[in-house]
Amino acid sequence: MLAAPLIVKKREGFELNEDEIRFLINGFCDGSVADYQMSALAMAICLKGMNQTETAILTSAMLESGSRLPRREAERRQNGSDRPRVDKHSTGGLGDKVSLILAPLLAVCDVDVPMISGRGLGLTGGTLDKLEAIPGFRTDLSTEQSSAQLERIGAFIVSASEHIAPADRKLYALRDVTGTVESVALITASILSKKLAASLDALVMDVKVGAAAFMKTLDNARELAHSIVQVADRSGLPTTAILSDMDQPLGQSNGNANEVNESIAVLQGQGPQEVRELTVELCADLLIQAGVAKQDSAREMLNSKLDNGEAYERFEQMVAAQDGRMTHPLPVATPRCIESKTDGFVSSVNCLAIGEAVVAMGGGRRKMGDKIDPAVGVDVHVRIGQEVVKGQKLFTIFCDRYDSYSELRQPDQWIETTPTACGPRPLIIERITD
Ligand code: URA
Repeated sequence: MLAAPLIVKKREGFELNEDEIRFLINGFCDGSVADYQMSALAMAICLKGMNQTETAILTSAMLESGSRLPRREAERRQNGSDRPRVDKHSTGGLGDKVSLILAPLLAVCDVDVPMISGRGLGLTGGTLDKLEAIPGFRTDLSTEQSSAQLERIGAFIVSASEHIAPADRKLYALRDVTGTVESVALITASILSKKLAASLDALVMDVKVGAAAFMKTLDNARELAHSIVQVADRSGLPTTAILSDMDQPLGQSNGNANEVNESIAVLQGQGPQEVRELTVELCADLLIQAGVAKQDSAREMLNSKLDNGEAYERFEQMVAAQDGRMTHPLPVATPRCIESKTDGFVSSVNCLAIGEAVVAMGGGRRKMGDKIDPAVGVDVHVRIGQEVVKGQKLFTIFCDRYDSYSELRQPDQWIETTPTACGPRPLIIERITD
């Protein structure tokens, strides 16, 4: 039995080697390394960090604890080519419905999008919960079913099977209860082990920055983005990252059915400009990395596929293939309007209060296993920098249960205003390519 080296030796000048990391991850999976030993290691990593080599080995050990999605060997053999396989990962934010639009949009641009997504916990919703607002939508496809769908439609969005990076699943559950989620090395290995399992040719990260994001400061967001881009590159997966603003929700709609409805609007060439802009930027990075489009033509191609209905048609095909019965718009709960009590310029939007309100009404989970009400939500009608006048509609709250609604504290104070003009916030803050 190997001693727990990180904990007994000083970190300075000391690193875990490949054998040690693999020993620990394999042992954790087969039960020979106990949970308490693994949580000690996770805490040590959290406090002391890991260098890039250690992080890359940890990623590879976690990836190899499970299986990979097969490539389309048959097609490759037949015509000597294979559609590039790409994906996006977001660190999560309020109103982030980009995946629902991005997957079908890319699928009509000659790339495949095998998207393995998660559920929401706390304030930010999960892509799977949003899609499950569509009656019948299945997220639990088998590897054979998802591979066949990818071949036919070019996109799927499913939950991770227990065969994808099981070491990460087990370690994440432990990190969640031991206060060790917030480590750049552990987050990097966790995200990349799952993305590498999809056998991708290119990845783009959407690292959110702001009050409602995992990364609250620009420095922390940059550190995570560089770590993921560099470790992915070492692992043979070309990756770029966009740092995007999360000091206000993305788009207008929050809540599951509500966000599906807004995604459809964007897929039909309408919807909020910022949702379209971020989606197009993330997609453009992928098309360029995958060699499918050039810098100057990528955005034009993507915008035209939103405007001409192709992306929406592919979304409908993806939903039908996953047994979803799409009616548009999906029903939402009873709307109630909140109006401004003052004149002024919006200087901040309290994302945490809005996210908490959606959870309080039943639109999110406080703990794993909580049931979700897809029909509740909040529309935010104003953005930072916008001028508002007394009596103007600020929010629409969708809720049928009076007891949950009456629990919401002072929704008119979810925004702050100033008497003098303040500029809008840039949505895309920075691009990180190395
Ligand atoms: N998302 C993941 O998949 N893993 C983490 O560790 C954090 C966020």
